[in-house]
Amino acid sequence: MKNLKIALLGATGMVGVEYIEFLHRHPWFKISNLCGKKSVGKKYGEAVKALKNIPKEVAEIEVVEPDPKKIDADLVLSALPSEAAREIEKQFVENGYPVVSEASAHRMEPDVPLIIPEVNPDHLELINMQKKKRRDGGFIVTTPNCTAVGLIMSLKPLLDNFGIRKVVVATYQAITGAGFPGVPSYSILGNIIPYIKNEEEKVSQETKKILGRLENGRIKYAEFPVEASCARVPTIDGHLEAVYIETEKTFDLDSVVEGFRNFKGEPQTLGLPSAPSEPIILTDLEDRPQPRLDVMAGSVPGMSIVIGRIRRGESENSLKYFVLSHNRIRGAAGIAVLTAELIYKKGYIG
Ligand SMILES: NC(=O)c1ccc[n+]([C@@H]2O[C@H](COP(=O)([O-])OP(=O)(O)OC[C@H]3O[C@@H](n4cnc5c(N)ncnc54)[C@H](OP(=O)(O)O)[C@@H]3O)[C@@H](O)[C@H]2O)c1
Repeated sequence: MKNLKIALLGATGMVGVEYIEFLHRHPWFKISNLCGKKSVGKKYGEAVKALKNIPKEVAEIEVVEPDPKKIDADLVLSALPSEAAREIEKQFVENGYPVVSEASAHRMEPDVPLIIPEVNPDHLELINMQKKKRRDGGFIVTTPNCTAVGLIMSLKPLLDNFGIRKVVVATYQAITGAGFPGVPSYSILGNIIPYIKNEEEKVSQETKKILGRLENGRIKYAEFPVEASCARVPTIDGHLEAVYIETEKTFDLDSVVEGFRNFKGEPQTLGLPSAPSEPIILTDLEDRPQPRLDVMAGSVPGMSIVIGRIRRGESENSLKYFVLSHNRIRGAAGIAVLTAELIYKKGYIG
């Protein structure tokens, strides 16, 4: 496939640095511009804040402002904070760019696909509606909140096999999820903060949009309730979630395990470069998954979710398990690159 030039917005942030792992030496994509705000004019290697070694040739690139008239790209990836994303991403779309964004600003707009490539690639059809409306070639595709991603991937095989009546989830979210500098160290070390602004609403709404059905050019949201309680905990990377669900049909645990184990999607069928061979990894060890031990599991580190402690609940048709996903990789940079690969492979760009 022809190489695409990529402009990365929000390149110097907590998530921005994770994109570099995926884009540097990518078989189809080549970094053309790295954009920031306060770091404009600095070399990328001097501007990045997260503790990460940057490949030399990338470290030398000068950070520029995200101006659609000045950058040279076939595709824009955005890791902007939501407030900045609202206007800047819109400008890129209006200037004819395809944009893949992990910011929340445009996720819930009716003609904007909110995508987990293994779960709802059919929702990409909404791109055609955006293109029809605008005729300038520009469009936007978004990826979900980092906490929602692991939950939704785990729910998909359960929904397909047994139907879902109700979801209750409690989360233990890593500090890198709050960006840089994030939560002050004095507030989080040796502590847990049982509040993350707007997170519970995002988990609920985004789950229903992604697991909804595309009907006559509109998404009909899933109807089951999703009750989320979100907490920030002093881990570095990896959101752990305790999930309780009630299914519509009866199930046996072996079929649940088989459903998780066999779960695959279009990225695996199409052999996309950033697709892990197993999107869901299972552990039967009694005290796993753990962020420190399991967050980088799998053939593409950080791109698989890990599920463990699968067991029945006390209520009828109820199931409990823990799921772990890497918030900056499967929840942000990795899923955005995988989505970009999917839309390129499916012919939406170029
Ligand atoms: N952290 C996670 O685990 C995670 C997971 C999923 C989604 N997200 C989403 O990803 C986005 C980025 O998160 P993050 O954690 O990487 O944040 P971050 O560490 O605060 O980084 C923000 C980045 O955006 C740039 N920026 C800020 N305001 C800007 C403006 N007005 N114009 C242009 N560039 C601007 C900054 O550039 P300068 O440094 O040059 O000022 C920096 O590169 C957010 O929307 C967040 O909700 C984050």
